[in-house]
Amino acid sequence: MKRLAILTSGGDCSGMNATIRAAVRTAIANDVEMIGYLKGYAGLLKNDYTILNSRSVAGILQRGGTFLQSARSAEFRTEEGRKKALNNLLIEKIDGLVVIGGDGSLTGALALDKMGFPVIGIPASIDNDIAYTDMSLGVDTALNNILYAVDCIKDTASSHDRAFIVEVMGRNSGYLASTSAIATGAEFAIVPEVELDLVEMCHQLRQRYDEGRTNALIIMAEGAGHAQEIADGIKNAIGFETRVTVLGHYQRGGAPTVFDRLLGSRFGMKSVELLLSGTKGVMVGLSANSLTTTLLEMVVNGGQKKLNDDLLHMEEILCI
Ligand code: F6P
Repeated sequence: MKRLAILTSGGDCSGMNATIRAAVRTAIANDVEMIGYLKGYAGLLKNDYTILNSRSVAGILQRGGTFLQSARSAEFRTEEGRKKALNNLLIEKIDGLVVIGGDGSLTGALALDKMGFPVIGIPASIDNDIAYTDMSLGVDTALNNILYAVDCIKDTASSHDRAFIVEVMGRNSGYLASTSAIATGAEFAIVPEVELDLVEMCHQLRQRYDEGRTNALIIMAEGAGHAQEIADGIKNAIGFETRVTVLGHYQRGGAPTVFDRLLGSRFGMKSVELLLSGTKGVMVGLSANSLTTTLLEMVVNGGQKKLNDDLLHMEEILCI
């Protein structure tokens, strides 16, 4: 292999830059040229790329987001678009591609693999809903962002005897809500995977207030319902003043944590080593702190990773 390419696709997350840097430097150490497509598959379709060298990836390790930029490409989802993408890769004499992204991006990687092109996928999504990896890139940084925000909100909640609903990301996944509820000592987590029993939640909140607690914190995943409706429901049922804070895209940015810098560096390095050794069509993952490889076919067709029952059990015992 003489020429490899890399792209970041879908929602950005912290740690993507660390991954690109590691992949580029591993390629260079092996006398292989590396190019970076801009804005994910959209750049691949427009043949919009930049040649990456050791200097072009200097100073990005500590930066959130992705310096190659990212996008969601509707054109790449079509058969026509995918043929065009393959053609562009062949014209540029690219021997292998590293795709960093979430489920949609890995589905795209699988499509290229099925067309016979060597691809390695790297799981990147703050939702931590990609199967066959304990952790995806960006999750740890997002959790730390949430922790910082929630700790601040707890200060004001206790000063004003208020209940707060903090909405975190996760359209279909309650991982961030569940994990951050445990780590912040919240009273409840509301997740899309478990139907909310508002009456029961209000009953439990009332009990805690009767026991002397003066404030409450509820962490809710964005896909689990409407935060303001639930806040109104609490107010109507038990009279507590309940405020809503939506953390939104704040969660996805910021300097990556040590964990995400190391994870990105490991994923990036491994992805290039795999391509150079002739491995293709797999996603790099993390299991018991070791790197793993799983066929993209299994990752994509296996569907979303389930919320761990142990996490839900912990939350039941430790929260409230
Ligand atoms: O998949 C990652 C994620 O951050 C989700 O948690 C969230 O629902 C979605 O992306 C937001 O997407 P966008 O940035 O396109 O609004």
